[in-house]
Amino acid sequence: MGPLLQIRNLSVEVAGERLLEDINFDVERGQTNVIFGPNGSGKTSLINAIMGIPGYEVVGGTIIFDGKDITSLSLDEKVRLGIGVAFQNPPEIRGLKLRDMLKMCARKGLKEDLSEEELELAKRFNLTSMLDRDVNFNFSGGEKKRSEILQVLLMKPKLLILDEPDSGVDFESIVLIGSEIQSYLSRTGSSAIIVTHQGHILEHVEAHRGAVLMRGTIYCYGKPLEVLDSIKRKGYGGCEVCKRRRTRMQE
Ligand SMILES: Nc1ncnc2c1ncn2[C@@H]1O[C@H](COP(=O)(O)OP(=O)(O)OP(=O)(O)O)[C@@H](O)[C@H]1O
Ligand SMILES: [Mg+2]
Repeated sequence: MGPLLQIRNLSVEVAGERLLEDINFDVERGQTNVIFGPNGSGKTSLINAIMGIPGYEVVGGTIIFDGKDITSLSLDEKVRLGIGVAFQNPPEIRGLKLRDMLKMCARKGLKEDLSEEELELAKRFNLTSMLDRDVNFNFSGGEKKRSEILQVLLMKPKLLILDEPDSGVDFESIVLIGSEIQSYLSRTGSSAIIVTHQGHILEHVEAHRGAVLMRGTIYCYGKPLEVLDSIKRKGYGGCEVCKRRRTRMQE
């Protein structure tokens, strides 16, 4: 069996404007890959393109998931195949209670109850008192992140994509979110892609590979903590002039 996700020479446009150029990125089974990159470099756009969010047009390349070409499948079909995303800025959904959203994520009917185990997970995420509020409506920044990550964990994805799970989250919540994510990944053997700026989540989640995305293209691949350390020391300016720059992933 090959990698769980294989992205080959992917180029993406929004309204005719090129946002991503010739991206090559693999995620092996049971592994976690990290994407670093400055604001506006295209990290969220890459996730949107992988998921098939309307407007992010793949103009070149392919996305293979679990051996199947999913490049032109709909968001719905991709979710059903086992890709789950916790978005960077999850929307507020008026009229839908968090409890019912969690049931949908766990693929339950609205008349069914959440199981003891699911309620226990909501409790660990400190969201029990919010179950009867509208999804994300008037939630604080950290509450939105916890709710988004709880939702995606209940979907039990084979590939878990987390767009900045640690941005705007307090220290205790990072420990909580990080340990629940790591526990899910070790228990199920699922893979993950994590976008992070500060890397706080990597203190709790074991990551295998990292990549730096700048100006819509990948500048390098490396060991995630080494890449993070180098960014902290030299900034992204260091990536611009790095002699190890390569745009193809090497094993
Ligand atoms: N739907 C869109 N329409 C127009 N421009 C877009 C769209 N989506 C993304 N962009 C632009 O593409 C660039 C990359 O945006 P993206 O959200 O992917 O960055 P990012 O790397 O996730 O940044 P951040 O770290 O700030 O989250 C930005 O300049 C953004 O304004
Ligand atoms: Mg982003």
